[in-house]
Amino acid sequence: MSVPKKLFIKTYGCQMNVYDSERMAESLSGAGYETTDDAASADMIMLNTCHIREKAAEKVYSELGRLKVHKENNPNLKIAVAGCVAQAEGEEIVRRQPAVDLVVGPQSYHRLPEMEALIRQGKRALDTDFPEEDKFEKLPNRPKAARGPTAFLTVQEGCDKFCAFCVVPYTRGAEVSRPVDRILTEARDLVERGVREITLLGQNVNAYHGIGPDGDTTLDKLIWALNDVDGLERIRFTTSHPNDMTDALIAAHGECEKLMPYLHLPVQSGSDKILKRMNRNHTAESYLKVIERIRAARPDILLSGDFIVGFPEETEADFEATMELVRQVRYGQAYSFKYSSRPGTPAAERPLVDVAEANERLQRLQALLSTQQYAIQDEMVGRDVSVLFEREGRMEGQMVGKSEYLHAVHVTAPNAKRGDIARVRIINTERNSLGGKLLD
Ligand code: SAH
Ligand code: SF4
Ligand code: F3S
Repeated sequence: MSVPKKLFIKTYGCQMNVYDSERMAESLSGAGYETTDDAASADMIMLNTCHIREKAAEKVYSELGRLKVHKENNPNLKIAVAGCVAQAEGEEIVRRQPAVDLVVGPQSYHRLPEMEALIRQGKRALDTDFPEEDKFEKLPNRPKAARGPTAFLTVQEGCDKFCAFCVVPYTRGAEVSRPVDRILTEARDLVERGVREITLLGQNVNAYHGIGPDGDTTLDKLIWALNDVDGLERIRFTTSHPNDMTDALIAAHGECEKLMPYLHLPVQSGSDKILKRMNRNHTAESYLKVIERIRAARPDILLSGDFIVGFPEETEADFEATMELVRQVRYGQAYSFKYSSRPGTPAAERPLVDVAEANERLQRLQALLSTQQYAIQDEMVGRDVSVLFEREGRMEGQMVGKSEYLHAVHVTAPNAKRGDIARVRIINTERNSLGGKLLD
């Protein structure tokens, strides 16, 4: 046996990239690589990149500039760029940074082993196709190594919605759903390796339409099938689009015991004028109606959202409509961004809002969202939750895990181990976590 080569992967962007990095590492393990946390000793450094905002994409080039130096010290080092920047920019990456050996898009990474063989011969490898074959079918089976208690599982990829600001339909391609049996097999395999909680991933996960034993299968049916997997204790899914929240999926939130009471449902803006220009195909009111239906099915659900401020032509009144929507919903958690113009998207042609104004709006929105987050955390004090322990805490005998509502909770539990689920009473709240004590 030859000595394994070392692979260092740095992951940017969304949870799907985290999942993809795991799958790429597995794919390259077939070519003799094992992963390392030490970039300096790596034989291959891979950046799994994100193109969603300008800052995310530019970070890649500054990182590549730094990595070039490693290459001067170690001429055998190979540098690879994967993910959404790879897809969007392709050869441009090599033009801007000639130290890059390999560029692979998100739909081509099952071809990594062949590409790796090519770069070992001193050639360059570039693949940003949207191939006909299903990459998931071509990827090697996961090695049976033990895993932590939580895992991501991609069930749907790509987006057909074409919001006017967004690069995802171009970098990830059209919506594709994986077959039900493949997902169940992967889920059972994860459970055997120690996983208790699975988060189903898709850019539009609630538009999932996979082939199942009874034909076309929607996300609610997939969740019910996963509910029957022994040893799997918790199911989550992300990210959803408001227009695909069907009655059956909403009902599952009230009825399916393993489905956790947390929903990430981006709205982007509270102004109908802006929503229309964003090509969101919903209004503020239709979004609020969806929220109402979800809360009727599951009153304690914790809601999270995404917002963009400073979208072209957003006036103060449009922004105020967003603030009003936030006040009406009350989010437990949220992500808010300043609009970033992305080349190739329809909104890129439109005039920008004044930067100072956009920054100021972002601050106001974030202040409101934080107030809501902390108020909801305060309300948790005195309540009993169940916590899935994910790791040891910093203090002796302390464990850290997540509640049903995805709050991080610190608990003194000297006899507990990772993967245990315990009943916990919340006793205090910190900035971004809660403290609890074990019940029984
Ligand atoms: N598929 C998911 C998320 C896509 S990207 C969805 O449809 O909700 C995650 C978030 O990034 C988006 O919800 C949006 O709020 C933000 N985003 C996307 N493009 C952006 C851009 N050009 N500028 C600023 N924020 C953006
Ligand atoms: Fe982007 Fe809109 Fe698709 Fe979400 S629904 S990935 S924001 S185009
Ligand atoms: Fe970024 Fe691509 Fe995810 S652009 S947010 S890594 S789908």
